[in-house]
Amino acid sequence: MSRLFILKAYAKINLGLSVVGRRPDGYHDLESVMQQVSLSDTLLFEPASSQGCDFFCTDQRLSGPDNLVNRTASLLQQKAGKALPGVKITLFKNIPVEAGLAGGSADAAAALIGLDRYWDLKLSWKELLEIGAVLGSDIPFCLHGGTALAKGRGELLYSLPPLPFFWVVLAVPENVTMPTAAAYKGFDKTKMGNPSLEPLIKAIKQGDKKGLMEWLARGFTNTLETAMLPGSDSLQHIKARLKEFGFIPVLSGSGPTIFVLTENYRHAREAARVVEQESGRAYICWVTGDNRED
Ligand code: C5P
Repeated sequence: MSRLFILKAYAKINLGLSVVGRRPDGYHDLESVMQQVSLSDTLLFEPASSQGCDFFCTDQRLSGPDNLVNRTASLLQQKAGKALPGVKITLFKNIPVEAGLAGGSADAAAALIGLDRYWDLKLSWKELLEIGAVLGSDIPFCLHGGTALAKGRGELLYSLPPLPFFWVVLAVPENVTMPTAAAYKGFDKTKMGNPSLEPLIKAIKQGDKKGLMEWLARGFTNTLETAMLPGSDSLQHIKARLKEFGFIPVLSGSGPTIFVLTENYRHAREAARVVEQESGRAYICWVTGDNRED
């Protein structure tokens, strides 16, 4: 078996997100339809002479021991309870950080798969999902991929049929980040009510593109948007400009990333241009299918 390989770690968007309750453990129960997209980080696994995990990230700020990739390696070593061969992991970062795209969770999910393979741990799919859930609420979905309804903290997954093909334009406002904990702390569901995801789930189950676009167009599809609304002028500007051009901008997860779905690549280019004119970063990607190995 080769000990030098690369894995991709894919970002996600939330097509809808409802915070349904506060939990005794400090987390929130949610219902969210999550969708994986093709924007990705890359992890390179290669042999290292010293034992343990030697981790390096192309974004210096993320190279520390707190990085989820490092924490994943430490947890697996601890569980193995024996010395494991040295591994060097290089994370080529591309997904925007603290942007509501689950970039860190995607890296952890790829680290879990990669280290299971590198160390020949033979973890079952169920074990991978359980370990993922310990490390972060979005990690099980990042392992699952495709389209799914997430409940509980986000770790209880119910597969949904794959979305029809859409281009996805991700718009990240300049100099705005939103740590997940801050979004959960700042949300106020009295402001917008809690969206019922039923129409969205029905549209996905029926492969109904029109129903999906109608869901997105209704506004307030994500309770956590109330945490972002007052805070960011640049986000509001980008949203308003995209609407002027006839697009349907939607906040992903805890934000601040806004996404637009479109069937037409020319429209995707147009949306990206609008975002860049408003000094935002734009990424054009597409919806992807699932990674599950039952
Ligand atoms: O699970 P994860 O480490 O990604 O969560 C980061 C923070 O987001 C948590 O510490 C918590 O404050 C908040 N959170 C929450 N409810 C969830 C998921 C996350 O309150 N379902």
